[in-house]
This record gives sequence, structure tokens and C-alpha cells, in this order.
Amino acid sequence: MLRTIDSLGDLKGKRVLVRSDFNVPLKDGEITDDGRIRAALPTLTQLVDAGAKVIIMAHLGRPKGQVNPDYSLAPVAKRLGELIDAKVSLAEDTVGESAREGVSKLNEGEILLLENVRFDPRETSKDDAEREAMANELAELGDAFVSDGFGVVHRKQTSVYDIAKKLPSASGLLVLKEIESLSKVTDNPERPYAVVLGGSKVSDKLGVIANLLSKANILLIGGGMAFTFLKAKGYEVGKSLLEEDQIEAVKGYLKEAADKGVDLVLPVDVVVAPEFDKDATPTVVEADAIPDDQMGLDIGPKSQELYAKKIAEAKTVAWNGPMGVFEFPNFAGGTRAVAQALSSGDAFSVVGGGDSAAAVRQLGFDEATFSHISTGGGASLELLEGKTLPGIAVLED
Ligand code: 3PG
Repeated sequence: MLRTIDSLGDLKGKRVLVRSDFNVPLKDGEITDDGRIRAALPTLTQLVDAGAKVIIMAHLGRPKGQVNPDYSLAPVAKRLGELIDAKVSLAEDTVGESAREGVSKLNEGEILLLENVRFDPRETSKDDAEREAMANELAELGDAFVSDGFGVVHRKQTSVYDIAKKLPSASGLLVLKEIESLSKVTDNPERPYAVVLGGSKVSDKLGVIANLLSKANILLIGGGMAFTFLKAKGYEVGKSLLEEDQIEAVKGYLKEAADKGVDLVLPVDVVVAPEFDKDATPTVVEADAIPDDQMGLDIGPKSQELYAKKIAEAKTVAWNGPMGVFEFPNFAGGTRAVAQALSSGDAFSVVGGGDSAAAVRQLGFDEATFSHISTGGGASLELLEGKTLPGIAVLED
């Protein structure tokens, strides 16, 4: 059982450290999708309303232990201040003088966001003692810890894992909601259970595919990784994304799927273009007829129809990773078709992965028409894989 905020007792006047996942996409310093900040609001509002002094730890990108203004949380502090009814300020460091001073000046119901925790190399260190030293410094800033950054609970990092051992700790509302929804998929899903996997790299998803072959009834493959599958079937894929070193593993999955009766579905047609460009001319070709000088950038219309039909057959659907380059309107059809099928179907539907969640919002779908849109990318994938996540295990009694 996950410990909840109630287990921390009366929080009025208490300094509560919260881990949030504010790893949002930025373009020219502007946040292009604030979904993760919005998802953090219920817990933050509850703490503010309880009169806690709220101190948030978060990361942005992978600054590799160096202070780098490109990865500053300043845009996040600004957006959070617009979204929440509380005073929000930003410390200039994570566990330094600015952080300590900021905490000492906090009033009840106010929020201090510490600067990017990954500016400190100890945050992501593989050395337990280094992480623990940072956890001790962070623990001096708070009286309790609330873990609400679902997107990072698969990371054994100071602000996710080690700090939970230093202070009375509990899971926030977002973590609880994510775990509850995802466990409906991982523990005994209503069948047929379909998984739609996309995104660019097969190698990122190998663990999930291996695991899902014993769990799912239908596996729909799209996105850049579909081309490694098509190649493994003996098709030529032109200039499409291809991971040569994964072809043998993929051949094994194709065989295993056939042996186990898993309906592993690949695109039957593909939208190709001569180059990776928003304005490149799209052409639809059969999956076994991709020209040498073209690259596949989306699944084609027949595949879209096929995938939608398979999704309609399922009672539970998990979707992780876009079907094509949805950021370019000419190559968004596959991702839109999958989103549409999930949104209009009756299945219990979970969308995971930062990109798929962003796609759903960017393509204008009503988030409420999906059963659950996860804020986690790697974290939700690891749960689908059946792994134990360190940032969750540490919150269990
Ligand atoms: C994410 O974007 O999935 C999370 O914020 C985790 O980021 P990370 O993969 O850099 O740890």
C-alpha cells in the first residue's frame, strides 16, 4: 500500500518538500505543452490549502550535473505562478544559499521552486553515498516529503528515492492516480488487451515488447520502429529509420508472437517522403514497396483503418508512442487515427509517454475521452514491462 498525504498528519506551517515532474517541452524558452505542470496542481493545491510551506524539487532535461541556464526552471516557475492561486518563487540553486534563504522566508501557503535538481551531479549519481549526501542537505530544507513526479519514479535519484528515506514520506495525488490507472492495465486487464507501440527506437522498447508478448492479445506496431519490423519480415525500407542491430531480436519476436497466438500487427501501407521535412511531399505506398530514395514518416490510410478496427475489438488498450511524425501535419494521420479510435471507443484506454500525451493535446482531442493520460514516458513503460520502480517501492509500507 502506498502511503498517502494524510499519513503525514497536520501540515499547517510544516515545510513540505515535493518532487514534481516539470520536464516540459520548450521551444525558444516557451513551454509548448504544460500538461505536466497542470497534472501537479491537485497535490500542490492540497498542500497550499493545508497551510504548508511548499518546496518543490524538479528537473528539466539532462544538464549532466552542470549549471546551464538553458535548463533553468524559470519558465516553469512563471507558468506555475499563472496556474495556481499561491505565491511562487524560484531559488537560484538547489541546496545552496539561495534555496536555504528562500525556505526560511516562506510563509504558510507559499511555494518555492528549487532550481533544476540535475544541476547538482549528485542527483543522478550511481554512487549511493553521493546521492545520500545530497539527500541529507535537501532533508534540512523540509519536515516531510511528498513524491508526486510520476514521470521520474523509475529513476533511483536523490530527489525521488533517497530523500524518501530521510523524511516522513508519502505519495502525492498524481502518483496515486497514475498507479491506480496503470495497474488496471498491468494486473489482470479486461481482454482482449491491445497495446499500441510507436516512437522511433525499437531498442528503447525491447523490454516492453518481450514482456507484452506474454500479456497482450494484440500488439500494434507503428512509428519509426515499425521499419525494423518490416525489414525483419524481408521488406526493403528505403531511407526509413532502421536499427540494423535489432533485426535478429525482432525476428525472434515475430516468431514468438506467432507461437503464442499474439496478433502482432504491422503497417500494410506507409506514408513516405523524400526527406524529413514538414513540407516534404507525402506519397502513400504499400509496406513492401518503399522506394529506395524515400523514407516512411507515418502509417498509411489502410493501416490506420486496420489499427482502428483492432482497437475497437479490445476491452483494454495501452498506447505508448506516436505512429508517425505527428508534429508535421502531412504525417499526423496515423497518430490521429489511433487517438480517434481510443477516444471514441469503449475500451479502458491508457495513453502513456510524453510524446503520445502531447500528441493527443496538440491534435485537439478532449483529454476526458481517454480513461487515463499518463504523465510518464519511461515510468509508464517500465510499469507496463512489469518492473518494480524504486520511487514507488520506497513509498510502500
Ligand atoms: C521524462 O521526461 O520521461 C521524465 O521527466 C524523466 O526524464 P529522464 O528520462 O531524463 O529521467
